[in-house]
Amino acid sequence: MKITVEMACSINGLIATKDGNEDFLSNRNYQIMLGFLKEYDCLVWGNTTFKNVISWGDNYIDDLKDVTIIIFSKEKQVSSYKNVIYCNSMENFLEIYKEKNIENVFVSGGAHINNLFLENNMVDEIIINYNPYVLTNGINLFNGNDVEKSLVLNKVVHEKEDIVQIWYKVKK
Ligand SMILES: NC(=O)c1ccc[n+]([C@@H]2O[C@H](COP(=O)([O-])OP(=O)(O)OC[C@H]3O[C@@H](n4cnc5c(N)ncnc54)[C@H](OP(=O)(O)O)[C@@H]3O)[C@@H](O)[C@H]2O)c1
Repeated sequence: MKITVEMACSINGLIATKDGNEDFLSNRNYQIMLGFLKEYDCLVWGNTTFKNVISWGDNYIDDLKDVTIIIFSKEKQVSSYKNVIYCNSMENFLEIYKEKNIENVFVSGGAHINNLFLENNMVDEIIINYNPYVLTNGINLFNGNDVEKSLVLNKVVHEKEDIVQIWYKVKK
């Protein structure tokens, strides 16, 4: 299994405003995610992120119609989207992963789900898109139990729209 966490943030590492708004991030960040997903077997989101994306309109979810999406939610839920599977714990995620023969997993938020994978020592790679924006108050890249990880720099890409993309390997 290979697990990548990929996120977009301000230069100071915030992924959304305090009330969950991502308007300061350009649409380029979503396009970058869609490009990456061609090389992965599934996209993992937390339910707060999923509900946010749904609120942006049908186009965003339509772009993902060929992607298997696994949504973490503690509630038992059935999806109205045929490509969306709910999972209620990390144990449940591992069952789904085995059942679906998933190899490469793309985790893209939010902060709690990134943290959950990191604290379980499951993340191999972290790719961060730093956007040209300062936000003094908001949601961090990771949130939850205390975790510390050493990283190794793998690559730096000068992306479009002044985005700097940094690839790190996680030391295990
Ligand atoms: N800039 C970016 O790249 C980017 C990417 C993604 C998200 N975001 C932003 O990040 C914010 C959301 O982040 P967040 O940390 O608040 O929420 P989140 O990680 O997206 O989702 C949290 C939810 O996941 C479920 N969950 C958490 N731990 C779980 C566990 N152990 N087992 C099963 N389910 C679990 C719970 O859903 P239930 O409440 O249903 O139980 C919880 O409320 C939003 O503003 C979003 O727009 C930004």
